[in-house]
Amino acid sequence: MNSCSSLGIGLAGFGTVGSGVWNTLHRNGDLITGRTGGDVRLHVAKILVRDPAKARATTGDVPAELFTTDWNTLVADPAVDIVVELIGGTTDAFDIVAAALRAKKPVVTGNKALLAERGVELFALSREFDTPIHFEAAVAGGIPIIRTVQDSFIGNRILSFSGIINGTSNYILGRMTDAALTFEAALAEAQALGYAEADPALDVNGWDAAHKAILLATLAYGFPIDPKSIHVSGIEQVRPTDIHFAKSLGYVVKLLAVIREHPDGAVELRLQPSFIPKSHILASVHGVFNAVAVHGDAAGESLFYGRGAGQDPTASSAVADLVEAARSLRQTTGHRGFLPYRENGRILPVAETSTAYYVRFDVTDRPGVIAEVAKILADHRIGISGTHSPVNPDNPDAEFLDMVFLLHTCPFGKLQTALDAIEQLDCINSKPVVFRIETLA
Ligand code: NAP
Ligand code: HSE
Repeated sequence: MNSCSSLGIGLAGFGTVGSGVWNTLHRNGDLITGRTGGDVRLHVAKILVRDPAKARATTGDVPAELFTTDWNTLVADPAVDIVVELIGGTTDAFDIVAAALRAKKPVVTGNKALLAERGVELFALSREFDTPIHFEAAVAGGIPIIRTVQDSFIGNRILSFSGIINGTSNYILGRMTDAALTFEAALAEAQALGYAEADPALDVNGWDAAHKAILLATLAYGFPIDPKSIHVSGIEQVRPTDIHFAKSLGYVVKLLAVIREHPDGAVELRLQPSFIPKSHILASVHGVFNAVAVHGDAAGESLFYGRGAGQDPTASSAVADLVEAARSLRQTTGHRGFLPYRENGRILPVAETSTAYYVRFDVTDRPGVIAEVAKILADHRIGISGTHSPVNPDNPDAEFLDMVFLLHTCPFGKLQTALDAIEQLDCINSKPVVFRIETLA
């Protein structure tokens, strides 16, 4: 076995994932050294936090002198060879990653918001300073999907991805379905388990999953994607009515990412709560688990499944990246980030994407309501495959009720125009809630 000196890690962030990285290295550091033939020895040289006095549940003692609250100190420390950014956000995190690249220190990050929002700037710095950014932990927690797309599918044209890529929202939908928990109670559980973002709004409004989808699409299609160009809606408006209705029709409700290349080269990319058939394999993805189905023109369909969030699974991906970063310091491995190679890429406007739909209206009940809504749908040539107005068993004479319509496949833009007109009816009390009905052939 070769022996070599240990590389120092600057661990920026010592929360759920940062302390998971510490624990994993503490537990498996010797294993890593053995498996790399003695090439990779790692130790934590500095830790950045906001509050060094905070109690931390870690394996083994963490020497107090490792902590700093000044990121410049961490990046500039000559004992730090590799910088691991796990603080989250897009401001301080950007400054840390940029400074590390300028100092030619490889970066490992789990920060999908940072890379989706500001990756173009950071990967340009990565190229300029010939220093890699590794980001396996940024997408789908413990599932090694980034390296799979970068390496294993390099010989494929990627026809599509579809998947469940936010553990928190999948956990919440599952607990609402299986344990009849309220949305708020289920979210509180996900936070306590370390699945949610520091700002959980990103989990429930769909944007955490959207950031991950942008990273996958960027790698697969080779052009930078402006987050403003994609359609995102989250699970905040999912109600037990929707879950029960889906179930009665043979579907389950999931926050689904759909990324698909169309024959003209346009890329469809959207995140929406969706009905998916109970018999489809993605319907069996429960709790914090994620799954990403990749369709390559050569490989055909592959499915990647595993824990999409949480301390140890995410640390598993970050530690794998650390080993790769360490190897890159020992020998040049080439640039590992996003390399733009397609000049004319474009995102398909969501108005041009087509599926069937489930739409829930909050209506004031009176004779003729269904007919008024149905007439506007017919005027817009949108077919109806079913409608239902569940009676509230606790209050059968309720003046307000949920009325749902199942609609045939049509472009989303056409549906939106019809819904804008329906919203003007005086019996409609709020914005209609739309779910896609996906066939996922
Ligand atoms: P977290 O538990 O909130 O931990 C954040 C850590 O960063 C804390 O130690 C905090 O210090 C420190 N910190 C935050 N802002 C700071 C600042 N401005 N200066 C210095 N220190 C700062 O977050 P997390 O769940 O570990 O997530 C970290 C990153 O990993 C995020 O980008 C997240 O999106 C990503 N990620 C998380 C998961 C997951 O399952 N949690 C999975 C994949 C990716 P204190 O401890 O003193 O408060
Ligand atoms: N908050 C994220 C999730 C963490 O729930 O999926 C993993 O990226």
